[in-house]
Amino acid sequence: MHTFYIETFGCQMNAHDSEKVTGTLLTEGYSQVETPEQADLILYNTCSIRDKAEQKVFHRLQQFKKDAGKGKVFAVLGCVAQQEGEKIFERAPHVSLVAGSASYAKLPQMLVQLQAGNRRVTGLSFDAEETFETPFTRRDNPHRAYITIIEGCDKACAYCVVPFTRGPERSRTGESVLREAGELGRMGYTDIQLLGQNVNSYRDPSPAGWDFSRLLRAMGEVEGIRRVRFTTSHPRDFVKDIIDAIDDNPVLCNHVHLPVQSGSNAVLARMRRMYTRDDYMRRIDWMKNARRNISITSDIIVGFPGESEADFEATLSLLDTVEYDSVFSFKYSKRPNTSALELEDHIPEEEKSRRLAIVQERQRAIQIRRNAELVGTVEETMIEGFNQATGQWIGRTSQNRTLNFMHAAHPGPTEGETLTGSYLNVRVTRAGPNSLAGEAVN
Ligand code: 5AD
Ligand code: SF4
Repeated sequence: MHTFYIETFGCQMNAHDSEKVTGTLLTEGYSQVETPEQADLILYNTCSIRDKAEQKVFHRLQQFKKDAGKGKVFAVLGCVAQQEGEKIFERAPHVSLVAGSASYAKLPQMLVQLQAGNRRVTGLSFDAEETFETPFTRRDNPHRAYITIIEGCDKACAYCVVPFTRGPERSRTGESVLREAGELGRMGYTDIQLLGQNVNSYRDPSPAGWDFSRLLRAMGEVEGIRRVRFTTSHPRDFVKDIIDAIDDNPVLCNHVHLPVQSGSNAVLARMRRMYTRDDYMRRIDWMKNARRNISITSDIIVGFPGESEADFEATLSLLDTVEYDSVFSFKYSKRPNTSALELEDHIPEEEKSRRLAIVQERQRAIQIRRNAELVGTVEETMIEGFNQATGQWIGRTSQNRTLNFMHAAHPGPTEGETLTGSYLNVRVTRAGPNSLAGEAVN
């Protein structure tokens, strides 16, 4: 068992966990391969946020059932592993390892058990009070890096499986976050994304006791780091000082993802979000009144149990009022263990689909308008690559928008010289619903 293949589903937390798992496996002497066919050990790092995400891993496992006898070892990691636990062995008997994110620090011991021939290895407890940190993280991108600052979630949103799959909140010390950021800066990384299920409730466990905005301000001073983003925020814990920090330091990106979920107070209460529409709008006003032009994005759930037509209209009116720069919208999906299962008046699937389509159409029109406002402006862009098909460089702005552009002096990548990872000013000349297009300045 010396080669491994890993496939990742779900959020950025999972993507970063896979970087840590990969680093750990490489350190243990495994080598990574590009296809499951080549691998002795196949790992799926799974997501269970909605039922559709959860089903993906079972489809994958089904595809490879026939290979189980051919000496391959299958591992299910992440949120589905934590949620379903040993039941996975019954549903997919060719799986040999089931482990949730709180157990990855014990991965080396679990690998030893696998190598000893144990075919029912589990890591499912939340007893590790340490967040999963490893010196071996193998990052996918040489310019942009994730840093976990807080794991788990102590909220109890009625629809959400995350408190069950990622456990209670555990923050890292500010000192260790800054040390990792400093090392990344010295290694040539310039763009850092701070990760947590709820970064706003970050609280340094050391005597320093930093809150999130204090950590953000310190992150803005790390040598070599030009951009710092963070995700995800929770409106209840989102304080004005975060906006003041962004206003004070251009290294902190002018983008905030602040999921609202619904525009109706009745639905927000049933969701147990612990804020009202007015509370939420106060936070939006802080951002709109900031000195910097802060891009605001959100998540919306349609068809939560009991969502009336009037509740749904309230969500649409919120979209019109806020004018988000981007929105991820979802149909409510029943999740195991969550309190929303006990609510009455579940909405039919077709009605959820109808509402979702309306939200997406409404938001698309808003984005066309919002993006058009940027035509003529000059945006600092980090180059992420080159699109051969269109002959354009792909860039990202501080607001987290994709900006594709032509570059007269560098029409394309040349041997031995790469622009990827560098920063360039680009004038916006055109706007679509999901991206901008432009030309490099001088
Ligand atoms: N059904 C639909 N969407 C959900 N989300 C979380 N749980 C559910 C669920 N049960 C959405 C929320 C959250 C995003 C990450 O996923 O909008 O912000
Ligand atoms: Fe999916 Fe949530 Fe787990 Fe991320 S934390 S992988 S979104 S279930």
